[in-house]
Amino acid sequence: MNIGLLAKEQSDYVIQARRYLHEHPELGEQEVNTTRYICEQLKEMGAEVQTFADITGCVATIRGTRPGKTVMLRADIDALPIQELPGKSFCSKTPGVMHACGHDCHTAMLLGAARILTAHRDEIQGTVKLIFQMAEEIGRKSEEYVKRGALEGVDAIFGMHVWPGMDAGLACFEGGERMACSDRFTIRVKGKKAHGSAPHEGHDAMLAAAAVVMGLQSIPSRQISPLDSLVVTVGMMNGGTKENILADEVELVGTVRVFDRQFRRSMPERIEQLAGQIAGGYGCSAECTYYFGPSPLINEHENLNRLAAQSALEELGEGSLASQPKSMGAEDFSVYMEHIPGVFGYLGVRNREKGIECIAHHPAFAVDEDVLYHGTGIYVRFALNYLNEEAGA
Ligand code: NI
Repeated sequence: MNIGLLAKEQSDYVIQARRYLHEHPELGEQEVNTTRYICEQLKEMGAEVQTFADITGCVATIRGTRPGKTVMLRADIDALPIQELPGKSFCSKTPGVMHACGHDCHTAMLLGAARILTAHRDEIQGTVKLIFQMAEEIGRKSEEYVKRGALEGVDAIFGMHVWPGMDAGLACFEGGERMACSDRFTIRVKGKKAHGSAPHEGHDAMLAAAAVVMGLQSIPSRQISPLDSLVVTVGMMNGGTKENILADEVELVGTVRVFDRQFRRSMPERIEQLAGQIAGGYGCSAECTYYFGPSPLINEHENLNRLAAQSALEELGEGSLASQPKSMGAEDFSVYMEHIPGVFGYLGVRNREKGIECIAHHPAFAVDEDVLYHGTGIYVRFALNYLNEEAGA
């Protein structure tokens, strides 16, 4: 089985599928047409497809002719609330919605892999499952599939993201910390209204909230080891009704990004304690809520890291493995890794010669489509390398 050749043969199909998806983007949890399209494609190939009554996305199963373990390959399918800039011949046809993170590419690459795998069941020692996941951009929606049993019987999971910060032809499957968690907190600072000209008659929730915003920065600077990464960002501050009225309630909303799992678990308490005591000093109180989003993404299974890097190297050739710094961004693939071993990496799609170097989540986001079939090849190679190694072949 010459996977390099088979993947290359899928190039036109992958680009065509990607362009269809790009023209018809749907936001997270609303990927109805996208799911229909994926299911149609999969059924045409003869894959078993499972859909869900109450959520979008689907899981396909490709059984090999010989018994073995089960490996899952993952693509995400949702788009973003961004108005695409004109320029492509296949621009989004939906105003205000755009595939600006490359999830259209992931879906198309995985469909290409499905075509190869369904046509070569006799080469598969075990089972390959493909998960086309909704709503990656929204919290930790991947958990919905876990709750519905999608990981039952799955021994390992593999995922990758097209990476506009890395040249086409390169890939990165490094071990260790890759992406941080993405948690959200809300702090409601409560005080007492008074006329703005007589502040001593009330308790200024605005002033207290401002102090809380400042104080929160002492968590990254004074509570975690300086050798560990932590971001606490307050992105929203809402309150007040008029310039001359003391606000009696101000809401702060922020995000926490960290890799250290133990420290992360302690964050709700740290925020509550700090916010409560600072607000207290101003005669106010603080009510805190904390939402645990996607957990940190850490590649910590040596054998999977090795197999993923090997698969990328086989597909892309000598010198194609690059290094990428860890990022404080997040990826809800990590939720699967809370349950089963997994590995996640990046496929370079930047091509400066072609003028393709726009960052993700940008209205001009673009990828070098000529390397997407390599993504297909890496998916197939990882599945087979894993299953063959587990079968002792
Ligand atoms: Ni993404």
